[in-house]
Amino acid sequence: MRVLVTGGAGFIGTHTCLLLLEKGYDVVAIDSYINSNKKSLQRVIEILKSNKTTKDVSIKIFNIDIRDKKKLDELFLDAQNSGQPFKSVIHFAGLKSVKDSLSNPLLYWDANVKGTINLLNIMNKYKCKTIVFSSSATIYGLSDDEILSENIEIKPINPYGVTKAVIEKLLNDIFDSEPSCWRIANLRYFNPIGAHSSGMIGEAPIGVPSNIFPYITQVASGVLDKLTIYGNDWPTRDGSGIRDYIHVMDLAEGHISALKYLVKNNHQIINLNLGTGLGTSVLELVDIFERANKIKIPFEFSERRKGDSCKVIADNSLALSCLDWEPKRTLKEMCIDGWRWQSLNPNGY
Ligand code: UD1
Repeated sequence: MRVLVTGGAGFIGTHTCLLLLEKGYDVVAIDSYINSNKKSLQRVIEILKSNKTTKDVSIKIFNIDIRDKKKLDELFLDAQNSGQPFKSVIHFAGLKSVKDSLSNPLLYWDANVKGTINLLNIMNKYKCKTIVFSSSATIYGLSDDEILSENIEIKPINPYGVTKAVIEKLLNDIFDSEPSCWRIANLRYFNPIGAHSSGMIGEAPIGVPSNIFPYITQVASGVLDKLTIYGNDWPTRDGSGIRDYIHVMDLAEGHISALKYLVKNNHQIINLNLGTGLGTSVLELVDIFERANKIKIPFEFSERRKGDSCKVIADNSLALSCLDWEPKRTLKEMCIDGWRWQSLNPNGY
């Protein structure tokens, strides 16, 4: 089966492309490379070629920004003319920094919302009406609930989160306009960390990371001096914030399961939390990382970070019941795999 992956060169995109190819999908990946590296998908091909069980690697890669209507249209037209039109899209392309979205909301609306409108227009034109969308638990904002289910109120508190929520709303409107045509899954990610076990692909943030895991791995490799933990006075078991960390390979598997689910079931739109359902504090994460990799992570406490929640844990029961999927990898594996990637690639790709 042929699938178009937008943002295929990004962190979750590369891991998902690898799995799609391993499972025999015919992948067309596009990326603007604004926030990613051309080497990442080449590494995916290298992993597959070094794996003797993989036969042919069927991937085509194009440098296309989803805001470029003309190039997108040409891509869909070429696919149609070749007799292999796109039937489904996994849509990762977009910007993802909360901080940058606060200082440059226009850019975030343009890249995420306008880019997705372009993509949906072209999909509609070429009658490609199945989409798995890369959403985020960030759309729940500062919820009073600690275990978040899909039906709680959507109230994002930053422009990045707003763009994800607006796209979900748009997808709902599109579905309602033609309910017998569209198949849509909004996948709301919790905190993806780790890397593929080969150490060949992983997260490569540009500049100083704002997320905890790449920060820890960069402290471990000596790129950064010490970790700053935002708050030791949260009402949690040890005073530090609690999150639901999920291995990026489990998340990638969730995309393929969601795509299969859409294809085999009736037309629908479904929102799914992809997390483990387990909460881990910052101090616990640091401790597991240190013990798993036998490396000390120096840290200090600071004030709470503005806009942070105390606890964010997925109620993943809907995904577990609908999809043929469950997260399988432990926090220890996330820490070992993430560190393998960082130690083999201290400067990213
Ligand atoms: C953050 C974003 C969220 C986005 C997600 C993407 C904010 C407020 N939220 O979520 O919108 O979807 O990343 O992955 O930016 N921490 C430290 N020190 C650090 C970094 C983080 O102590 O240097 C703590 C945080 O306070 C939090 C936990 O680590 O308790 C996880 O933080 P982070 O990795 O930034 O993820 P989120 O805050 O959950």
